[in-house]
Amino acid sequence: MDKKVVELLNQQITKEFYSAYLYLEFSNFYYDLELNGFGHYFRVQAQEERDHAMLFLQYLQNNGERPVLETVDKPQVIPTEAKMALEETLKHEQYVTGLIHEIYDAAYQVKDFRTMQFLDWFVKEQGEEEANANSLVKKFTLFGDDPKSLYMLDSELAARVYAAPSLVI
Ligand code: FEO
Repeated sequence: MDKKVVELLNQQITKEFYSAYLYLEFSNFYYDLELNGFGHYFRVQAQEERDHAMLFLQYLQNNGERPVLETVDKPQVIPTEAKMALEETLKHEQYVTGLIHEIYDAAYQVKDFRTMQFLDWFVKEQGEEEANANSLVKKFTLFGDDPKSLYMLDSELAARVYAAPSLVI
């Protein structure tokens, strides 16, 4: 495989573990506020991010490359109020979309069609993650200040069910 593509794929393992760490921080924040549905939602999100990390790791191994595990930073955003974590989630997902596009571009430059096909799932996934984050920000803006509505939103988020990634590699 192309060195640059391998380097970026390897870096993405750490970035996805960082995302898991960030969302676990957000989960802890919400549990502390007694917004347990939000807490649960972000715990599930953290699980999904760990899955993403493992997909990048597995993909490298499938292609005969040895993954190199790097340091995962501690969460760089500590939320101070409920809406902030949602806004930071949207920002973070937009950032991750940029990273995926960067790897895609590197693969495209060297005609690495297999990596491009692998990344197609992530391109779609990022679209969904940004849409979900955007929707939560909007809902919170509409209902967040009303305790009854907030309670209902919290209950809605408590119903999120973890699902393993649909991508099989
Ligand atoms: Fe792994 Fe939220 O993107």
